[in-house]
Amino acid sequence: MTAILELRGLTKHFGGVKAVQGVDMKVEEGSITALIGPNGAGKTTCFNMITGHYIPTAGDLIYRGLKEECSLIGCGADEIAKNRIARTFQNIRLCPEQTVLDNVRIGFHTQRQSRPWDVLLNTKRYREEEAVMTASARAVLEFVGMKPTEENGLEALLSDSLPYGDKRRLEIARALASNPALLLLDEPAAGMNPQETEVLMDLIRKTRAAGVTVLLIEHDMKLVMEISDHVVVLDHGEKIAEGAPAEVQKDPAVIAAYLGQEEGERASQRLKALSESQAEAAEADEPDKAEAEAEAPEGEGEEPKAEAEEGSS
Ligand SMILES: Nc1ncnc2c1ncn2[C@@H]1O[C@H](COP(=O)(O)OP(=O)(O)OP(=O)(O)O)[C@@H](O)[C@H]1O
Ligand SMILES: [Mg+2]
Repeated sequence: MTAILELRGLTKHFGGVKAVQGVDMKVEEGSITALIGPNGAGKTTCFNMITGHYIPTAGDLIYRGLKEECSLIGCGADEIAKNRIARTFQNIRLCPEQTVLDNVRIGFHTQRQSRPWDVLLNTKRYREEEAVMTASARAVLEFVGMKPTEENGLEALLSDSLPYGDKRRLEIARALASNPALLLLDEPAAGMNPQETEVLMDLIRKTRAAGVTVLLIEHDMKLVMEISDHVVVLDHGEKIAEGAPAEVQKDPAVIAAYLGQEEGERASQRLKALSESQAEAAEADEPDKAEAEAEAPEGEGEEPKAEAEEGSS
């Protein structure tokens, strides 16, 4: 098997923040590889280095999606896109005032042959390229399950008016329009309901079947476990585990990293609920206050239990 991408000791520091620290990993050609980890683990920072948005502090990025192996270090975002690496963003980055069709057509810009004078003179080459781009954009939209028809009027719709799940799929369509060998998806299922996530999983599988290697960041563990061939786990910028989904799921270091986060989230939710009930009690009359106070100890009561469990282990 060939690794289409290899991270070697990849490191990114922001001042004192070690966002990514000496990460080694391989993305096998033709695989679906998942990069997971708690919030702030350094996942998006890895994507930003791979796609030329951030310059690594140290390490190397070896890419084999071209005829010859090369290092991506020093390549800008445009050059990376021309090297057939495409991405979607954690926070959707569509052109909201442009139509669905034009948002996909933008994805073809890396393959354009026309020169500015072709556009100005409306040359045959420009007109032909425009026609091919429009036809290809329609085909890509159909591929992601957003086939434009007269009834749905999809291609003329402004992208901003799409439901959230369709916006995410449109971003994938735009990325696919650049004909990538490697597609990076940053939390593609974020904000999707379970039905939309199922459709997305099929699309990711279909994309891989079409010959595109997929590297994805995702918090939806069902999606990660069902569709990934290989999972790499980051925590505090460092790789803490990797392997097949079933192995990684059982890894004590991974469980600890995620449990640590969930404990933290549960504690902050308890604190929020407690302060809200106290605020309500302050405004309300005595019976309400009594009710709020009756709720409060429930949250507090869990703390000694956790301590007791820790102590007993
Ligand atoms: N441009 C930046 N400047 C300073 N610090 C940054 C920058 N980008 C990321 N960081 C920091 O680097 C760390 C890793 O952030 P990153 O966005 O890569 O995490 P993540 O794993 O993608 O998290 P999430 O799941 O929340 O998206 C965090 O501490 C973050 O605050
Ligand atoms: Mg992120």
